Amino acid sequence: MILKGTVVWAPEPARLEVSEASYLVADGAAVRGVYRELPAELAGEPVEDWGDALIVPAFVDAHVHAPQYLNAGIGMDEELLPWLERRTFPLEARFADAAFASRAYRAFLRELWRQGTLRFVAFGTVHAPATWELMRLADAAGFTALVGKVNMDRNAPASLAEDPARSLGETEELALRAREELAHVGFIATPRFVPSTTDRLMDGLGALVEKYGLPVQSHVDENRSEIELVASLHPKSESYAHVYEEHGLMPRARTILAHGVWLKPSEIDLLRRREVLVAHCPQSNANLTSGVMPLTRTLDAGVACAVASDVAGGSNLGLPAHMACAVRASKLRRVRDESERALGLAEALYLATKAPGSFAGFADPSGSFEPGYRADVLVIESARTRELDELLGRTPAERLERFVYSGESADIAARYAGGERMPEPFAQEGSGA
Ligand code: GUN
Ligand code: FE
Repeated sequence: MILKGTVVWAPEPARLEVSEASYLVADGAAVRGVYRELPAELAGEPVEDWGDALIVPAFVDAHVHAPQYLNAGIGMDEELLPWLERRTFPLEARFADAAFASRAYRAFLRELWRQGTLRFVAFGTVHAPATWELMRLADAAGFTALVGKVNMDRNAPASLAEDPARSLGETEELALRAREELAHVGFIATPRFVPSTTDRLMDGLGALVEKYGLPVQSHVDENRSEIELVASLHPKSESYAHVYEEHGLMPRARTILAHGVWLKPSEIDLLRRREVLVAHCPQSNANLTSGVMPLTRTLDAGVACAVASDVAGGSNLGLPAHMACAVRASKLRRVRDESERALGLAEALYLATKAPGSFAGFADPSGSFEPGYRADVLVIESARTRELDELLGRTPAERLERFVYSGESADIAARYAGGERMPEPFAQEGSGA
C-alpha cells in the first residue's frame, strides 16, 4: 500500500506529526514509514494519490458494548444502576436469539466502519453463540478486535444470571475457539463488574486468565451508588479496584478498566503498577450522571488512559464525538480547579488512536504511523468545505480539528485495514437491524 496525501498522526501524547505531500507506505499489513520522497526501490509501484486529503490512523475504541448499539441515544434520563436494570439488561436478554444477534451485530459493525473505528475492544452479552457470531463477523469483515462473553452470576435478572460453572466452561471454550479459528479477533475475559460476579466466578475467571494469558476488561469506579454497592459486597477489600486484583483479574499490561471517575490514591497506585489501561468515557459519564473524571490528573499520575465510547452509556459510536467530550470535560474541571490541565487536540487524537491501539492484549500495535504499526488508515476529505479551506489557507491541524468537532462520517473518503482498502461490511444485505 502506498498512499499520498497530508499525513497526520500523534506519535506522542501532545505532539501532532504533520507531513504534507508525503507517502505512507505499508509492507503487507504493517507500516513501513512516511516519506517525503518515495524510496528509489518503490519507483513504479502504484500510488493512490489523495491530493491534500488528510491521511490519519483509524480510530480504536477501547470500550464499547456491541449489543447496546441498538440502545444508543435511548434512556439517557437515568443513572447507572436503574439504567442497567430498566434499559440495558432487557436489551441484552434479546441476544439469546442468535438470529436477532446476527442482525444487530452486522448493523453495529457497519456503523463502526462508517465512523472510522477499525479496531475495538467490546463486551458481548452472556450468550456464547451470539458472542461467537460477533467475533466471527468482525474477523470476516476485516476488523481487529478483542471481544468478550460477559460473565454475570449475581444481581442479574433471571434471563441473564449464569450458573458459574457453566459460565466458566463457555468462556474457556470461546477463548480456545477464537485462537483456533480467527485471524484478527481475540478473546478477552469480561467479568461485567464487581456487583455482577461472585467471588467464585471471579476466582474461576482469574484461573483462566492465568492459564491462557488472556487479557481482561471490566468497569471500575464509575458511579457513586455503584461504588457504595461494591463496598457493601466486599467490606474487607481495600478498594473497588483491589477486588479485581485479589481475584487474578488484573494481569499486568493486559487489563482495561472503564471509567475510573472516582479512583482513590491507592487505586491510582495499583493501576499504575499493573499497567492498566483506563478507558475514559466522558460522554457516558455525563449521560449517566456518573461524574467528571480527572483525566489529565490521572494521566499525569502515570496511569495509561484512552478515550472510548462506552455505547450505549455513550450515545455515539464514532470516536470524534468522544474526543471532543474529553477535551470539554477537562476544561470544565479546570474551570473549577486551575491546577488541572486541559486536554488539547493532539492529545485527544493520541488517546483515540495510539494509546488504545498499542494495548498489549492485541497481537500487533495500531494507531500510529511508526514502522511496524498495523496500517489501519482513514482518508479524510471534506467536499463540503474544500473551496473555503483553500480560500482561507486552512492548515492540516485546523482541518483535523474541525473534523473532530464537527465532521461527519461522509467526510471519510476511504478506510484501509492492515494495508488493504476495507469495503463496507455486509453491504449487500441492506440496512440491517
Ligand atoms: N457497569 C456494568 N455494566 C455496565 C454497562 O453495560 N455500561 C456501563 N456504562 N457501565 C456498566
Ligand atoms: Fe461500559
